[in-house]
Amino acid sequence: MKLQNKNILITGGASGIGRIMGRLALEKGASAIAIWDINEQNLSATKEAHSRYGKVLTYKVDVSSSEMVFATYKQVCEDLGRVDIVIQCAGIVTSNHTFDENTVEEIDRTMKINAVAPMYLGLAALKDMVKRDEGQIVTVASAAGMLSMPKMSIYAASKWASIGWSDSVRIELQRRHSHVKITTVAPYFINTGMFDGIHSKVFPILDPEKTARKILKAVERNKTFAGIPFSYHFIRCMEGMLPQALFDWFYGDVFGIYNVMDHFVGRKKQ
Ligand SMILES: NC(=O)c1ccc[n+]([C@@H]2O[C@H](COP(=O)([O-])OP(=O)(O)OC[C@H]3O[C@@H](n4cnc5c(N)ncnc54)[C@H](O)[C@@H]3O)[C@@H](O)[C@H]2O)c1
Repeated sequence: MKLQNKNILITGGASGIGRIMGRLALEKGASAIAIWDINEQNLSATKEAHSRYGKVLTYKVDVSSSEMVFATYKQVCEDLGRVDIVIQCAGIVTSNHTFDENTVEEIDRTMKINAVAPMYLGLAALKDMVKRDEGQIVTVASAAGMLSMPKMSIYAASKWASIGWSDSVRIELQRRHSHVKITTVAPYFINTGMFDGIHSKVFPILDPEKTARKILKAVERNKTFAGIPFSYHFIRCMEGMLPQALFDWFYGDVFGIYNVMDHFVGRKKQ
């Protein structure tokens, strides 16, 4: 769906690629952006920075609260008249622990924010969009949602879940000939600070601005799935074709993917 004259809701829009997509959407002629984030300070800074490009509304929302998601979605519809496109960017990674070192709190928080919250907002938005038979829901998952990833098993689980959910809804809508579109995005590591300290042996870490542009291009072209870089579209094909030991050797040793998290420090607490 073209972004021009559209109202766009972006979760996690006060930082990283969500923040960049907000600015780019306004530059491309969006009528307004509604930014949801839990970080109040970044929300005000983003509003101040983006307002020169167009209409910006900000809402302090914890996307892992279904009550807050439903109430704030209603509020955005009242404030803007309607929501045309939802871009789900809010996400967290908690540590580079092996699974046995993790805590119940890390499991619950990661799954709630990365996997369950997109379903809450997806439900609120779809109930509205299906009635109007228009709209688009974009879920930013991760390449870690297609690969098994040591030292980020909970994050990987949450992203596998969000890809499975988002793409299943895409099929449901297509089978009933709905005009509501679903786009699932699976980028490799991006240099936003979320994964500071990681070391990628072969694949270059992605530039945030270029990645944000690629995601919006996928939205405008109604892509159902966007792996970034494009070569990540072939992961599942490779895993299906290669014996497990060969696949592990290729990705783990040759590409070094299984050691990426060894020196992870993540974003410093704000
Ligand atoms: N950075 C990467 O390497 C990378 C790679 C692939 C996918 N992703 C995914 O892309 C998305 C954006 O990543 P980013 O690098 O821009 O991250 P980021 O940390 O810069 O931005 C994430 C935003 O989500 C917000 N957020 C966290 N918990 C929230 C909650 N409970 N309610 C509302 N907002 C909340 C944060 O405050 C932050 O503003 C995430 O879903 C991430 O998992 C990131």
